[in-house]
Amino acid sequence: MAGMTSAAPGRHYLDVWGVAKSFRGTRVMSGMNFRMDRGELVSLLGPSGCGKTTLLRIIAGLMEADEGDVVLGGRNITRLPAHRRNISVVFQNYALFPHLTVAENVAFGLRARGTAKSACAGPVEEALRLVRMDAFATRPVSALSGGQQQRVAVARALVVQPDLLLLDEPFSALDRKLRETMQVELKALLRDRGITAIFVTHDQEEAMGVSDRIAVMNAGRIEQFADPSTLYARPATPFVMDFVGLSMRLGGRVVESGGQTCIVETAHGRISAPGGFAPGTAVQVGVRPELVAPGTGENTIRVELADAMVLGSKTVLHGAAQEGDRLICEMPGIRTGLARGDAVDLGWSVADTLIHEAAA
Ligand SMILES: Nc1ncnc2c1ncn2[C@@H]1O[C@H](COP(=O)(O)OP(=O)(O)OP(=O)(O)O)[C@@H](O)[C@H]1O
Ligand SMILES: [Mg+2]
Repeated sequence: MAGMTSAAPGRHYLDVWGVAKSFRGTRVMSGMNFRMDRGELVSLLGPSGCGKTTLLRIIAGLMEADEGDVVLGGRNITRLPAHRRNISVVFQNYALFPHLTVAENVAFGLRARGTAKSACAGPVEEALRLVRMDAFATRPVSALSGGQQQRVAVARALVVQPDLLLLDEPFSALDRKLRETMQVELKALLRDRGITAIFVTHDQEEAMGVSDRIAVMNAGRIEQFADPSTLYARPATPFVMDFVGLSMRLGGRVVESGGQTCIVETAHGRISAPGGFAPGTAVQVGVRPELVAPGTGENTIRVELADAMVLGSKTVLHGAAQEGDRLICEMPGIRTGLARGDAVDLGWSVADTLIHEAAA
């Protein structure tokens, strides 16, 4: 039962462990462990329905876990109600009060915690200055753009000086350009103030751009928890390889193994990969598209082009692939002279080859 076990004094600032949750008899999360340090900015990244919001709500105390504990700053808060946790949440839809002004919205959290009205003005003004909305203090929230409302929601979360800030897809309603601006601003703001935050997103670029570390979630589990470059360069599972960035991907079977490398038979011929998988093992080999180049390499496959897309900053070649495989090569800048139907060799190094046992 939640809170029955007392947590060992953790070395981590936030320590979530053994969390399980079911909805009407259906398990959506079990044995969830999640730890982070003070001042870290961590993203929860995963497809719709994988349990990101559920985990966030359990940490915030907005939902009770069936099992497990939440320890924050060395204190077991599993049984504390949300309003006594000093954790702020920015929701996907901002959840602002449209009939109140910007300043009243920001003051709301302080008032709810018993701060006298007269004592709110200073902190509210400071929070609004932080998000560059101080000039809008007396405007009704309904007269703001999406990006401005998003800033007010962040100010409202920060004004109470939370021990932990949780953001659930805070930018999902914004267009791409504004999202990118907000990502840069929010990251700088949290860094400058040393705020510990968890940021939920299902956009892998957003996660890579804003976080110190990313927990990649799938079906109620964390598949890998690492910094962005490790996730990209050394994905631990086929799911992470596919979810974080694009990759060339080929299914196959190990036919030879020599300790340090093995040889995989694929629909496009034999590929050498690092690792000692036993002969007969069904595997998936991959390589990031920018590490593939036209021409021969240590590994070479011949493909028929399905498309050559000139995107400006890069040119992307797509090869005709059988179901489940993906053949892709990215080159910087504009490359012309290649067209659908051309046969080309694509090459890459053994060291850049990723290999995982195929999902059962
Ligand atoms: N109140 C609820 N009642 C029943 N099932 C729920 C409830 N809340 C969540 N679920 C289920 O739990 C699972 C995890 O949901 P959750 O909202 O945590 O996903 P998510 O990762 O936040 O997804 P999204 O990216 O779509 O927001 C889903 O299968 C969802 O249908
Ligand atoms: Mg969600």
